[in-house]
Amino acid sequence: MNKINVAIDGPASAGKSTIAKKVAEELGFIYLDTGAMYRTLTYAALAKQVSLEDEEALYRLLRETEITFSAGKEKQHVYLNAADVTEIIRSEDVTQNVSLVSSFAKVRKEMVARQKEIAKSGGVVMDGRDIGTVVLPQAEVKIFMTATAEERALRRYKENVAKGINTSLEELTEDMRRRDHLDSTRAISPLKRADDAIELDSTHLTIDEVVQEILAVITQKNKTLTSAESTIL
Ligand code: CDP
Ligand code: CDP
Repeated sequence: MNKINVAIDGPASAGKSTIAKKVAEELGFIYLDTGAMYRTLTYAALAKQVSLEDEEALYRLLRETEITFSAGKEKQHVYLNAADVTEIIRSEDVTQNVSLVSSFAKVRKEMVARQKEIAKSGGVVMDGRDIGTVVLPQAEVKIFMTATAEERALRRYKENVAKGINTSLEELTEDMRRRDHLDSTRAISPLKRADDAIELDSTHLTIDEVVQEILAVITQKNKTLTSAESTIL
């Protein structure tokens, strides 16, 4: 019996990773943050001074780059080969360049292959931009999470304040809009709601409310699947 897969897509700071992580914990599933994979490659390219415009060079770099995640209940760490890059991949420099790096077909193809491999036996909650449309089109549960650009910028602003990072709300709102635009208009695998995804606007919802809504969708879905098809248990 296979476990189901859960795909969560949506724009920056909609709450995908926070919520996906909690849903995975509740179900005892693996959580995979695909944005962290694109961020790690972007960081590696910046560190090695690989041109961010050079698709071939980025692809070659990715082929020699192992991206792994720590397991367990504590904060998930991200590793580039053996180095812990959890914090550095959230830097402004990476954030500014990640949409460019992730726009290349060869990069995406390799990333998608790795992501599919991780989810092949089910039991994965994966978040990103193209999970429901490209990576896991057969995912039993698909959520498209949204929130207004203002609310998403405010969330990022509060995160930065807590970390002692000084940014203006205006700059963050502008960055959200710029990345939303790049991610949803790129030629390959643009950010878009899968036809069979449930749209969930989290603007006025707490993290727990969103988690509970998704768990309810999963429970409901599981009832419609025969035990031979899939189970969450
Ligand atoms: O956490 P945040 O919303 O800032 O973004 P992220 O999930 O870390 O993703 C960073 C960037 O990676 C996005 O803006 C996309 O350009 C890219 N990305 C992608 O193209 N496809 C994915 N499946 C995940 C992320
Ligand atoms: O992964 P993504 O970029 O979509 O968002 P995130 O990093 O999970 O969430 C961005 C911020 O919004 C975090 O600080 C969350 O705690 C916060 N958040 C919130 O305040 N209310 C929600 N309903 C969801 C997330």
